[in-house]
Amino acid sequence: TAGSLAEEMGYGVYLVGGSIRDLLMRKPSPDIDIVVEGDGIAFAQELSKIINGKVIPHRRFGTAKILIEIEKNGEVKRFSIDIATARTEYYESPAALPKVETSSIKKDLYRRDFTINALAVKLNTKDFGLLLDFFGGQRDIKDKKIRVLHNLSFVEDPTRAIRAIRFSEKLGFKISKHTENLIKLAVKMSIFEKLKGPRLYEELILLLKETLPHYSVKRLADYGLLKILHPSFDEKLFNELVKAHETVQGMELLFLKEKYRKEFIYLVVLLWNLKSHEREEFLKRICAPENVKKQLIENITSAEKALQNFPSEESFLEVYKLLSSLNIETIILMMIYAEEQQKRAISIYLTKLKEIKPLLRGEDLKKLGIQPGPVYKKIFDEILKEKLQGRLLSKEEEIEFVKKF
Ligand code: CTP
Repeated sequence: TAGSLAEEMGYGVYLVGGSIRDLLMRKPSPDIDIVVEGDGIAFAQELSKIINGKVIPHRRFGTAKILIEIEKNGEVKRFSIDIATARTEYYESPAALPKVETSSIKKDLYRRDFTINALAVKLNTKDFGLLLDFFGGQRDIKDKKIRVLHNLSFVEDPTRAIRAIRFSEKLGFKISKHTENLIKLAVKMSIFEKLKGPRLYEELILLLKETLPHYSVKRLADYGLLKILHPSFDEKLFNELVKAHETVQGMELLFLKEKYRKEFIYLVVLLWNLKSHEREEFLKRICAPENVKKQLIENITSAEKALQNFPSEESFLEVYKLLSSLNIETIILMMIYAEEQQKRAISIYLTKLKEIKPLLRGEDLKKLGIQPGPVYKKIFDEILKEKLQGRLLSKEEEIEFVKKF
């Protein structure tokens, strides 16, 4: 479809970026990125008519997203295609957002981060499937190398240093010596001091989403990049992230029903030892979305408070009361920083106590002739107390208990 439309509109159209890399490595790729030599937005609009999608144009960047919904066996699957106008980006200053100029595919690929991401496959019917590899991307995939395309790559976009580490960890590739030297040089030249803004947040989150984020953070430290994120971040964080990783893995074994975002757990571990104004400043600097910022700070504060107030003796009721009002991310955080006895109590809460609640409802109490009022809460609290002790297993037992109440 895209190929014949490209011919009709007289544009060169290419599949680019990570999806070609993944394809050559025989890995599934979640993204479809298309570059158009021509008007990318116009192409997206025409293509979406054919494939029944919804276009969200981004005029300033000459890009568009097509959202597609496909219904299969009663299930709706959503995916998106990113379409860009081939461009030569130029940057007004290091770390600034790019300005855009229309250009050809080769120039477009030249402004990308690493050779392995600078491959393209032509989609036009005429040359369908033609692989364009101007910078040795296939060789670097074969040699498992992360290599920049030119010496100013990190000056143009310092977040690429974080990407280099992420790809290296994710794909098991080595950062080439020259690229490594360019990162070190950029650190020396203070290029990274300007590292801030939403790109930094996005890259940091992607790094922390990887399977073993503690290794990635250690590597940030090795390159001197951790101190740039925050002057008080140091290697000690590695041990805390290992603890966090073990906790997250432990949680996976518990098959918790509630979903949580593990990258936020790791991000909070980075923030844990900062003073509260420093946490705010850091999240502001990396442009964490307002709701994320609020949630993370709230989680830290609640976890700290709950750890301070943790019941000293093992009373299931007290543990239940403390933890039942907290969200799962806060409880996992507590687990990372808790003492052994507290950890045991939290595990018991998550595996057993959490699901316990009275089987009787208000209407059952009404049927027993009890008038609605504050007494209901008292009764439910007493039932809960009994159940947490392992008593009152059935509804009948609860009824008997209420009758005696
Ligand atoms: N890119 C870049 N510099 C950046 C970010 C992105 O040059 N700071 C380019 C890369 O060529 C990349 C493409 O934009 O291939 C798309 O970016 P992204 O979706 O972040 O990367 P993917 O390669 O698709 O990575 P992933 O598989 O992790 O999604």
